[in-house]
Amino acid sequence: MKLLYLAWWFFRARFFGRRRPLQTVLFISDKCNLRCKHCNVYRDNPTTKTYQQIREELEYSYRQGARFVDFEGGEPFLWKDGNFDVNDLCDLAKKTGFFSTTITTNAQMPFAGSRANSIWVSMDGTGKYHDEIRGEGTFDRLVKNIANSGHRHLSVNMVVNNRNYENVEAAIKFAKENPHIEKISINFHTPYEGTEHLYIGDLKLRTKIIDKIIEMKRAGYPIMNSVSGLKLMKTNKFKKQCWVSNFIMTDGTRLDTCPGAYVDICDRCGFCMAGEMHAVYTLRPDTLLAGFSLRL
Ligand SMILES: C[S@@+](CC[C@H](N)C(=O)[O-])C[C@H]1O[C@@H](n2cnc3c(N)ncnc32)[C@H](O)[C@@H]1O
Repeated sequence: MKLLYLAWWFFRARFFGRRRPLQTVLFISDKCNLRCKHCNVYRDNPTTKTYQQIREELEYSYRQGARFVDFEGGEPFLWKDGNFDVNDLCDLAKKTGFFSTTITTNAQMPFAGSRANSIWVSMDGTGKYHDEIRGEGTFDRLVKNIANSGHRHLSVNMVVNNRNYENVEAAIKFAKENPHIEKISINFHTPYEGTEHLYIGDLKLRTKIIDKIIEMKRAGYPIMNSVSGLKLMKTNKFKKQCWVSNFIMTDGTRLDTCPGAYVDICDRCGFCMAGEMHAVYTLRPDTLLAGFSLRL
């Protein structure tokens, strides 16, 4: 059933040019318990959506075609509306018809018993590298909370910038050795306004880092990125297919592609999903396999 839907979606997109999302990135609040150096999402006077608003946004996205949803923030585990918490949003998404739910978290609060199908924990390096970007003590809390989470599908997500790039190899090794982590995905910093100083603009350095990641992937390290997707990230010169995800922002704005496209930043994009979505769209077998193993 799920496979049939995916095949049908792909067929219409690839051969009839139908531009409809398969995934929704749904920002539920911009309230956060961290002030990460690379982030421009959190607000000091945060907005939190109601359960009812999120229900409408899930129904809208489902009607658009999306079948996977990622709850984003702010910090999603802080979200509450009366007695509802983010677990109730996962249940609601499943009831709406979504195939699977994901939560992206900084893992600073315990999240044992999470009903999301998969959890992405943001880990920007090991030890002091992570703490430099996210604040003192954040790495130790992350390690403790993922160990206590008991979640069977937990992966980590690293954003590489000019403060932590020397730690990429160590972070990948850490992901392999930690029994609570399934995979690691590697992204590069995208220089949104106010965070430009962290951007790695030197393409030679970026290529060197990516070549190392490809080497480790080929050596069997649990890296989520496909080799095709990684190669595309070296120059960033490929046609973006980021309409595969729709985005619903904290203020309720409904975007039919990545918000980066609206601020003209795609040529400096570091989100690995940009390359992965292009590689899926052009039927690269290794990326298709990575996508299936991640999603189904
Ligand atoms: C905005 S955070 C919100 C979710 C949660 N609070 C967390 O820290 O994972 C979502 C993801 O976006 C990433 N991110 C934030 N700013 C970024 C940037 N400028 N470039 C690339 N990734 C970024 C974070 O590292 C994190 O993995």
